[in-house]
Amino acid sequence: MGLSFITFVLYFSSLYVHFSYVNSRSLNDISSAPSLAPTAAITPNVQSCTSKVFNVRSFGAIGDGVTDDTQGFRMAWDSACDSDEPATLLVPEHYTFLIRSIIFTGSCGNGMVFQIEGTITAPDGPRVWPKGTSKRQWLVFYRVNGLSLQGDGVIDGRGEKWWDLPCKPHKGPHRTTLPGPCDSPVAIRFFMSTNVTVIGLNVNNSSQFNIRFDGCHGVYVDSLTINAPSLSPNTDGIHIENTNDVKIYNTVISNGDDCVSIGAGSYNIDIKNITCGPGHGISIGSLGMRNTRACVSNITIRDSVIMHSDNGVRIKTWQGGFGSVSKVRFINIQMDTVRNPIMIDQYYCQIKGRCPNRTSAVRIHDISYQKIMGTYDYRSAPIHLGCSDSVPCTNLTFSDVELWPSQGRNMLNPFCWNAYGDLQTLTIPPVFCLLDGNPGLFPQKTDLNHC
Ligand SMILES: *[C@@H]1O[C@H](CO)[C@@H](O)[C@H](O)[C@H]1NC(C)=O
Ligand SMILES: *[C@@H]1O[C@H](CO)[C@@H](O)[C@H](O)[C@H]1NC(C)=O
Ligand SMILES: *[C@@H]1O[C@H](CO)[C@@H](O)[C@H](O)[C@H]1NC(C)=O
Ligand SMILES: *[C@@H]1O[C@H](CO)[C@@H](O)[C@H](O)[C@H]1NC(C)=O
Ligand SMILES: *[C@@H]1O[C@H](CO)[C@@H](O)[C@H](O)[C@H]1NC(C)=O
Ligand SMILES: *[C@@H]1O[C@H](CO)[C@@H](O)[C@H](O)[C@H]1NC(C)=O
Ligand SMILES: *[C@@H]1O[C@H](CO)[C@@H](O)[C@H](O)[C@H]1NC(C)=O
Repeated sequence: MGLSFITFVLYFSSLYVHFSYVNSRSLNDISSAPSLAPTAAITPNVQSCTSKVFNVRSFGAIGDGVTDDTQGFRMAWDSACDSDEPATLLVPEHYTFLIRSIIFTGSCGNGMVFQIEGTITAPDGPRVWPKGTSKRQWLVFYRVNGLSLQGDGVIDGRGEKWWDLPCKPHKGPHRTTLPGPCDSPVAIRFFMSTNVTVIGLNVNNSSQFNIRFDGCHGVYVDSLTINAPSLSPNTDGIHIENTNDVKIYNTVISNGDDCVSIGAGSYNIDIKNITCGPGHGISIGSLGMRNTRACVSNITIRDSVIMHSDNGVRIKTWQGGFGSVSKVRFINIQMDTVRNPIMIDQYYCQIKGRCPNRTSAVRIHDISYQKIMGTYDYRSAPIHLGCSDSVPCTNLTFSDVELWPSQGRNMLNPFCWNAYGDLQTLTIPPVFCLLDGNPGLFPQKTDLNHC
C-alpha cells in the first residue's frame, strides 16, 4: 500500500490540528546534513567535545514525573535544532519527565543526538490523556534527518489503562469486545524521516505499537530492550512500513503481539541477533487487506531466538490484494516452545468466516528457511504453508530445518496447500507435502503481482 499524497495530507493535517506545535523550519537544508553511513558502526557521539548540550532542565522541564514537561522539551528541541554546532538534547539521569503527545520536527541539519538517560513517561491512561491531542501517537519524529535517539534511559508508555479499555479484545463485560473507535497511542513513531538511529533505550509498556517506522529511508536500531506484558493487546515491538534500508541488531523484545512486524512497501531489511518472546514472533504482514497492493522484498532475518511465542517466522496475507513478497531469508533461528515456528498464511482473517474468498492474492515467492532449529508447542503443526488458490507460493526452500515437539514424542505433520519449492536437505519433520517445480506462471496475474 503506497503512501499516497492524499493520505499523507489528510493524515498530517489531522496531526496539525491536534498539535499547536509544528516546527516551521524549512526543509531546504536537508541535503546539507552530514550523511550517516548505515553500514558503519554508529556510535553514540554525545561525548564528542564539539557537541553542544541542551539539557531539558535548562529549558524549564522539572522531571518530577508529575509536572507536564512538554513545553520544556519543545524549547530544548527548538534550540538544539537551531544550533550551528552539533547538538545534543539531553534528558538527564535520575529524573522522570511527563510528556504529552508531541511532534519533534525540523531538519536539524547537523545530525542531532537525542540522549535519554532519565525516564520519559506518558500520561497515565486515556482518562487523563490531554484533550485535543492525538490518541494515536505519543512521541513523534516527523521529517527528521540524521537524528540519533539513544541512551540508557527508559521510555515508559504506561499502557495498562489503555489495554483494559472495553473495546480491546475480550476486555468488555463478560470477556466481550465492545465496538470502537479504540485508538491508543504508538509510543515512538518515526514518520517520513531519513537516516535515523535508535540505540540502547528501554521501551516499556507502550499502550500500542512500541516503535513504528513509517515512510522512512535508512534506519539503524541497535541494543534496544522492549517490554510489555504478554497479554497486552497490539503492543508490537518494532513495526516497519513503507520503509527501506533498515538494520535492527542486538535487540530483546517481549510483548503481547508481533516482535517485529514488516508491512507493505518495505525492502532491504536486515535483522540480526534479536531475541523475541513471549509474544507473537516475527511477522511479514498482514498484507493485502481490503484488496490493497503490497510489495515487500529483500528481507534477511538471522542469528536470532524466538521463544514462548504463538508464531516463529510468519508471512500473512489476506485474500485479495496484489503485489508480492519475495527474497526473504530466515537464517539460523532458534525456536524455543513456539506454537507455529514456520508459517505462511494467505487466508489471514481476523474474524473467522467474515473474509470472503477472492481471486487475487499477494504473491509469495523466493522464501528460504535455513537452519531453523528447536522446539514447537506439541499441539500444532510446526510447519504450516497455507498458500493462495489463485497465486500459489513458489520457490520456498528449506535446509537444515529441525523442529521437535517440546513435550512428548508425537510429531505433527507439516501442512501444505499450494506450496511449491525445494527441500535442500532432509528436514525434521520432513515436508513431504511440498510440491515440486513450478505451477506455471499465471499470465493473467503477473501484472497484478508485479512490484
Ligand atoms: C543517508 O545516508 C546515506 C548513506 O550514508 C546517504 O547516501 C544519504 O545521502 C543520506 N540521506 C540524507 C537525506 O542525508
Ligand atoms: C509494565 O506494566 C506491568 C503491568 O501493568 C507492570 O506490572 C510493570 O511494573 C510495568 N513496568 C514498568 C517498568 O512500569
Ligand atoms: C522497564 O524499564 C526498567 C528500567 O527502569 C527495566 O528494568 C524493566 O525491566 C523494564 N521492563 C518492564 C516490563 O518493566
Ligand atoms: C546479541 O544481542 C545481545 C543483546 O543485546 C548482546 O548481549 C549480545 O552480545 C549480542 N551478541 C552478539 C554476537 O553480538
Ligand atoms: C538487500 O538488502 C541489503 C541490506 O539489508 C543490501 O545490502 C543489498 O544491497 C540489498 N540487495 C538488493 C538486490 O537490493
Ligand atoms: C471459500 O473457499 C473455501 C476453500 O476452497 C471453501 O471451503 C468455502 O466454502 C469458500 N467460501 C465461500 C463463501 O465461497
Ligand atoms: C529460489 O530461491 C533461492 C533462495 O531463496 C534463490 O537463490 C533462487 O534464485 C530462487 N530461484 C528462482 C528461480 O527464482
